[in-house]
Amino acid sequence: MPQPRILITSALPYINGVKHLGNLAGSMLPADIYARFQRARGAEVLCLCATDEHGTPAELAAAAAGQDVRTYCDEQHTIQREIGERFGLSWDWFGRSSSDQNRRLTQHFAAVLEDRGLVEERTDRMVYSVTDARFLPDRYVEGRCPICGYDRARGDQCDNCGSLLDPVDLLEPYSTISGSRDIEVRDTRHLYLLQTRMQDRIRAWVDQRSDWQPLARSIALKHLDEGLIDRGITRDLSWGVPVCRDGAPRPGFESKVFYVWFDAPVEYIACAAEWAEGRREGQGAWRRWWRLDEGAEDVRYVQFMGKDNVAFHSVSFPVTLLGSEEPWKTVDVLKAFNWLNWYGGKFSTSQQRGVFMDAALELLPADYWRWYLSANAPEGSDSAFTWEHFQSVVNKDLADVFGNFVNRILKFAETRFEGVVPEGGQPGEREHRLYADIGAGLAELAAQMETMELRKSAQALRALWVLGNEYLTEAAPWTAIKTDRERAAVVVRTGLGLVALFAAVSQPFIPFTAAVVAEAVGEASPAPWPDAHGEAALRLLPPGRPVRAPAVLFRKIDDAQVAEWTARFGGPEA
Ligand code: MF3
Ligand code: ZN
Repeated sequence: MPQPRILITSALPYINGVKHLGNLAGSMLPADIYARFQRARGAEVLCLCATDEHGTPAELAAAAAGQDVRTYCDEQHTIQREIGERFGLSWDWFGRSSSDQNRRLTQHFAAVLEDRGLVEERTDRMVYSVTDARFLPDRYVEGRCPICGYDRARGDQCDNCGSLLDPVDLLEPYSTISGSRDIEVRDTRHLYLLQTRMQDRIRAWVDQRSDWQPLARSIALKHLDEGLIDRGITRDLSWGVPVCRDGAPRPGFESKVFYVWFDAPVEYIACAAEWAEGRREGQGAWRRWWRLDEGAEDVRYVQFMGKDNVAFHSVSFPVTLLGSEEPWKTVDVLKAFNWLNWYGGKFSTSQQRGVFMDAALELLPADYWRWYLSANAPEGSDSAFTWEHFQSVVNKDLADVFGNFVNRILKFAETRFEGVVPEGGQPGEREHRLYADIGAGLAELAAQMETMELRKSAQALRALWVLGNEYLTEAAPWTAIKTDRERAAVVVRTGLGLVALFAAVSQPFIPFTAAVVAEAVGEASPAPWPDAHGEAALRLLPPGRPVRAPAVLFRKIDDAQVAEWTARFGGPEA
């Protein structure tokens, strides 16, 4: 069979600020776990992510930091890349939507879409702040609600009466950037993408995506049922992809850029181009991942994202790709997640509620978080982070089950078998039962991983660890050794085989610990994913090989620590 090729992307994190654990749990972490699994199975994987750098929030965050926006993005990109790496996110490339590659591709798509009759210029009336010398996007203008009179209604909605508003209808509007009331409504020209013309194309395309999971499919169908609307793809801003064609600015669009949601998904493609250039893969190496006429027919493309991103990925971006009439690869499987909540409420970047990626790593190593967030992924429904739940999951799964197993068997091998994989003896009935159980467990784990069922995968992995503990407890080498050293040798050899196997199959979830565990049994790195089932899967270690118990793999979280963290980061009352 030819080596499968899998393209994996996770929703591109906004540039402004370090992400919270909810962002990690709903896209970047599951993408990484899937990428690691597929690499271990021998697939050729291209796993891409990037910072989403354009738009007003980036401009404003830069201004708040007293930096020009390019410098701000340079810094924040590096911060996000480093923190992702410290979490073990094994991207092949972590790109930037502000790259030259993305600018060229975004301008290319706008041009071909226009040539296909899918883009037209329209005149909008928009709120303009004379003091700020700029048009104000919805969220940067407030005023009195024309319906209920509430005096702090936002441009897009009144929080008092709930009415949806158009910013130009606000009474006594003011800029939230400067507070200025020197506001006018001005005409401005914008490019519109005529999504209404692509309605049937997109529905037919969604209908063919039989592999999509229910959450993604239902959101896509809801948007199609409501009917697609034509969408403005330019904005009156200076930071973004300039509205140029063949290198020349479009007349009347000199002070405009493409809308951030138009250029950001294009970065999935541009990121592959950045990768090819950065890794000196040679001209066009990226095209075999993205162009159907240059090899991408064989690629399976999987996207990971939170549910708020599904419409953009299942409708808007496909309009760009399919509307171009060029042979671009489109997504095969769209894996969407619900929200990870912080106790009863939401994580909030603006209000700094919840734990952010940088703070998390100050408390505990990455694998504690990776395990908790994947075993409790917000998959079928929203899930809630609580310190108490985190404590109990870490203490049970990681310390009592996994850590304890590895430690018990290695300590025993050290003290009773001189720290080498023992020879001698024949596997008995108990071993054969273990082979069968492990074989079934591995098959279950691989099946769940293949379909990206993260919680069920974690459950299946935990079940394997439990089998290891049960085996040790029942086979009790510490008793056997008193009367039958050969029998104890079989058990220890089998147990050490389990350790090596666990390093291999735990690696997608807890890569740092898996590396330590593999090393403890003399492997340079965790073995590839086992295709052998049963006994062969446990024959990973040659007799005579030196082994050594690692330092404590996972330490337990005590109540005092929970109290301290609750006080520091908030808890139920937050
Ligand atoms: N930055 C967006 C978010 O965090 C996601 C962008 S995904 C992309 O919601 F495809 F547009 F890049
Ligand atoms: Zn109102």
